[in-house]
Formats: sequence, C-alpha cells, structure tokens
Amino acid sequence: MIKISPSLLACNFARLEEEVRKIEEGGAHYVHVDVMDGHFVPNISVGIPIVQALKSITKLSLDVHLMISDPDRYIEEFAKAGADIITVQQEACIHLDRTVRYIKEQGKKAAVALNPATDIRVLEYVLPMLDMVLIMSVNPGFGGQKYIPYSTEKIKALKKMIDKMGLKTDIQVDGGVTVDNCREIKAAGANVLVAGSAIFQSKDIKETIRKLIEY
Ligand code: DX5
Ligand code: ZN
Repeated sequence: MIKISPSLLACNFARLEEEVRKIEEGGAHYVHVDVMDGHFVPNISVGIPIVQALKSITKLSLDVHLMISDPDRYIEEFAKAGADIITVQQEACIHLDRTVRYIKEQGKKAAVALNPATDIRVLEYVLPMLDMVLIMSVNPGFGGQKYIPYSTEKIKALKKMIDKMGLKTDIQVDGGVTVDNCREIKAAGANVLVAGSAIFQSKDIKETIRKLIEY
C-alpha cells in the first residue's frame, strides 16, 4: 500500500491547522515534520513544541524526520511530544544500533535516513530492527530541490536487500518527489512518499495526493 507523508516544511506555518486539515481531507496517511538544527543541516526549522501542537489537532501519524546532530539527546522528548515514527540520519549517529534501540524502547516506530551519498550497506545489520528506511533523494536542509536521479537505483538496491532478508521494511523517499516522477520511485520499490512543495504548492491538494498514490 502506498502512503503519502506531506512535508509541512512547504506549508503556510501561519495557518498550520488549516494546512493539516487540507492534507487530512486530501487523504494523507502521515504528517512529515522536518526538524533541522542548523548544525547537521544548514537550516533551522521546527522542534518539539510544534510536534506537541500537531498532536493536539490531528489523529494522523506524526512522521518526525530528525535532521539533527546527536539525536539521542532529544528522542525521548520527541516521543513524549507525540511523534509516532522517529527517523534519525545515519550520518548523525555514532552508535546507530543504540539509537535505534532507544527509539524502540520509547514504543515508537524507528526509521533511519540515508543522505544521497551514503551507501545502503551501512544498514545491513540494523535493518531487521527498522520499521522504515528513508532514502534522501536530495541533500537534506531545504524543500523545493530537484530529485537526484541516482536515487532510483538506490531504492531498487534497498528493496532487493529487504526482500533478500525476508523483511517487510517500508521504504520512504524524501526530496523532489512530484506527480511526474512518483511512478518511477514506486516502481523501484518505495511505498512511502514524502512531498512538500508538490503538495502544498498545488492548487488542488486532494487531487495531487490522489495522483501521487495512483500514478
Ligand atoms: C529536506 C526535507 C524534505 C523536504 C521535502 O531536507 O527532509 O522533507 O522538505 O520537500 P520537497 O518535497 O519540496 O522536496
Ligand atoms: Zn524530510
């Protein structure tokens, strides 16, 4: 089943609740929250209070993408604030096994994101513990960037690795996902699509989400 996780980074933050209603009514499955610390990535976005606020207004699962250094310091707080899925960047974790276990101990779904240049093989040993792997198809830090074409090969290789190990791990793709390239991304094996600009800058959010699912 294809799931859509609209990235709030592209929404109108002055109208956060209305924006969330639009994606709920549009049939989104998750709400993607991009947390940036100005250290792991060259940008600062939102944090714990926004996750808490979102939890109070929506029943959709909160898909929290931590683009922050040393995420262990904040995992418990994000879990308490209401994150349902917690994604850490492999590059930010010195002890990835420990970090993944820590997320699971909070009773949350654990996911690991890989930057474009990071090899999927770094996940080989922790893969059985993960609920989802996030393939970054842009360099993290900003919305509205172009999909990096080699990401498709990476998704295919990851899918192969997951199947070979007999796992059911979700494959999420984030960055430059549009109605024009979603078919290729899904055919490669991805089943959770993050889209920011493609959704929030479209005239008809519901129609765009439908296309992202059905194309
Ligand atoms: C990039 C973020 C993405 C981004 C996606 O650092 O992780 O979630 O906001 O935005 P679009 O879909 O506009 O590339
Ligand atoms: Zn993201």
